[in-house]
Amino acid sequence: MEHHRGQWGSNLGFLLATVGAAVGLGNIWAFPYKMGATGGFPFLVVYLILAALIGFPIMISELAIGRKVGRSVLVSYQRLGGRTGAFVGWLAMLSPLLILSFYTVLGAYCIQYVALNFSELIGLAQISHISGAQSFTDMLTNQPMAVLFTLLFIGICFLIIRGGIKDGIEKFNKVGMPALFLMLVVVILRAVTLPGAVEGLKFMFAPNLAPFTSLEGFLKVLSVAGGQMFFSLSLAMGITVTYGSYLSKKEDLVKNSLLIIVSDTLVALMAGMAVLPAAFALGGEGAEMAGPKLLFITLQDVFNAMGPAGPLFGILFYLLVSLAAITSAIALIEVLVTFLVDHTVLKGKTPNRSRIVAAVCFVILVMSALVAADGLGANGLWVPFHQTGLNLSASWLDFMDFISEGIAMPLGALIMSLLVGWKIGPAAIQEEVRLGDSHFSGGLYRFYRICIRFVAPIGMAFILYGQLSAFLSPAG
Ligand code: PHE
Repeated sequence: MEHHRGQWGSNLGFLLATVGAAVGLGNIWAFPYKMGATGGFPFLVVYLILAALIGFPIMISELAIGRKVGRSVLVSYQRLGGRTGAFVGWLAMLSPLLILSFYTVLGAYCIQYVALNFSELIGLAQISHISGAQSFTDMLTNQPMAVLFTLLFIGICFLIIRGGIKDGIEKFNKVGMPALFLMLVVVILRAVTLPGAVEGLKFMFAPNLAPFTSLEGFLKVLSVAGGQMFFSLSLAMGITVTYGSYLSKKEDLVKNSLLIIVSDTLVALMAGMAVLPAAFALGGEGAEMAGPKLLFITLQDVFNAMGPAGPLFGILFYLLVSLAAITSAIALIEVLVTFLVDHTVLKGKTPNRSRIVAAVCFVILVMSALVAADGLGANGLWVPFHQTGLNLSASWLDFMDFISEGIAMPLGALIMSLLVGWKIGPAAIQEEVRLGDSHFSGGLYRFYRICIRFVAPIGMAFILYGQLSAFLSPAG
């Protein structure tokens, strides 16, 4: 029996799913702070330039490669790039697996916070009487609960992905992404009208040229913006290749790539306008403005300080973040599922999608349970290289993050850009892109060719270096 791979129902569905994959925790807890701390508005300009010079060429190459071969990320790279391609393909599957081991736990924490705020709303619990810091510690150290919510998070992903590309992932994103956008607008309206909110907006947007005055400072801005851009667009994770492999030949890859990049940046800016004004207005002295502490301590304190409406906004906000995490996690899981489905088909057998999704989710659950039990290091489980005291060994999350975000992803993107630029050839990408409705010749194509051959590899080498030095510095 022939196996039909399936396709997106519409270009809009594909776009929402891909933007959903790109929009995640990084947009909310990393971008706003990095932008504010590293130059404000000028940072945004640097970010956009890097997105155009590195993000765009890699993204359109990934989409074209996926669509050209129409198979999983491993087979796609292998067919076009031989052994080197296979290496890139394996890296692009290792990263999702490792990222999932902690991304699911972080998503589970978001759901726990929805539940906490909901309990507060109906009078079951009283989290507003304790500090955000206390709620966070209580959650981290309650290992059975953390594992249970991780199971719930993975269970939700399982149910969505089991439905397939069009009837599972696309359907969910078509409702989930507009809902996320709407909730974000509501939260922004509340946040910017709080007294003192303008400080947060000033922090994020006001130009701060100090980081640009020395070469060292400028390199730092480049490295922070580059790392963020690359993680935020979910590059070198197999996602774009996988999602592209289900896209119709008639769709416009140039327009799609640009729309994904612009939407992801827009949501990051909007997230900043939702989060920072509130954190500055109500977060209190010395409040943390980034990472898990911003999300689970500072912002919970903000909701606690809002009075009766607090739990409602808490539910809305953590639901929004949970959605952002789910739409990213299902993309990561689909990379592995597509690989196994295609692998089964290539062996001449008929794949059972549900069973494959269940198996992948089970493996992820085993890895995630370890990260959940570790509680971001709060419960002190042994971690490889613990004794080194480096950033990479502070917790199981940091360790998994180091191998994926620190090594596999930037290395994969570096080799991938060299592969496309010099072996597969920009012309092969151009040919695929031009099958669709795209204008991809003349100046735009020349721009692409220069970027994928020279700018992206150099940029990715620099980003790899930046990532390594961040992880290899002392934990703090
Ligand atoms: N891009 C997502 C974010 O900004 C994170 C992510 C990275 C998701 C890689 C999937 C894969 O949070």
